[in-house]
Amino acid sequence: MKEWIEKITNANSLEELESLRVEILGKKGVLTAEFAKLKTIPNEEKKAFAQNLNEQKIAITEAIDNKKVVLEEDALNKKLEAEKIDVTRFNNEVSSAAVHPVIDTMDRIITYFQNLNFAVEEGPLVEDDFHNFEALNLPKYHPARDMQDTFYNKDFTVLRTHTSPVQIRTMLNQKPPIRMIAPGTVFRRDFDLTHTPMFHQVEGLVVDSEDKVSFANLKHVLVEFLQHMFGDVEVRFRPSFFPFTEPSAEVDISCVFCKGEGCRVCSHTGWLEVLGCGVVDPNVFKAVGYENVSGYAFGLGVERFAMLIHNIGDLRSLFESDLKLLGQFK
Ligand code: DAH
Repeated sequence: MKEWIEKITNANSLEELESLRVEILGKKGVLTAEFAKLKTIPNEEKKAFAQNLNEQKIAITEAIDNKKVVLEEDALNKKLEAEKIDVTRFNNEVSSAAVHPVIDTMDRIITYFQNLNFAVEEGPLVEDDFHNFEALNLPKYHPARDMQDTFYNKDFTVLRTHTSPVQIRTMLNQKPPIRMIAPGTVFRRDFDLTHTPMFHQVEGLVVDSEDKVSFANLKHVLVEFLQHMFGDVEVRFRPSFFPFTEPSAEVDISCVFCKGEGCRVCSHTGWLEVLGCGVVDPNVFKAVGYENVSGYAFGLGVERFAMLIHNIGDLRSLFESDLKLLGQFK
């Protein structure tokens, strides 16, 4: 018995203590075996024998319980020590943030045009029908409204589908001449490799007297701008249609990946479409009450620029807040 108590007192771990308990008090334990002997013991000795066993059992159980408390406390302390967090420790590996590639691209575009003396204008994200469509020569039921998958609100306002309504607001609030860009978020019901329901555009508008603004000016400004953004690229203007400009053009650059040879990104055409533009349609000037002026306008998608500049294949990855991707733009 003394020997058992000693073993218990010297146990080094909860596991060791538990196996001692099994060894002594378990089903096949030594003390349990002693109790079994009771049956064979003569009646007059039984009482003393049983009493002695019970005392042993109580002493051993008590020793185990006491030791258990000590070992548990030890284990907890060890765990606390191992998991200690020093909140005062200075972390040398502070990770610095990177500017998001879309914002970075937007900033570069804005800076470029600010240097050319363009003002930066803003407008609301929730627009009314007049500014988003009507004044831009997109009357109700005009089929060209289908070009833009619009989010409509219950009160017939819309989430602006492009930054062009800022043209209208600026012309209504100011007098010509106007040289402005309108950077901002726009919304369309669209979601795939190259479309997200929210994206960014930069709109440009120049309005001045009729002798001062021409398609040639527009062409010059855009060629210079695109070569600033994409480096040594060729630029071509393709006739196109927009309700708010006439004539209208879509502008391509030679593929930045294959240098015009033809690859997957440019669908083997050698060209990448990067913006829309044109000479402001007279109906737009009529809507804002401008007379005897001429103007040109352009609009571009910032994500498209960012993807081409940084070789990003899936537009949606720009909005997944994936730090591994974003960290590359430091
Ligand atoms: N608003 C057009 C769009 O979202 C982009 C655009 C094209 C704007 C031609 C213009 C322009 O000002 O002249 O698709």
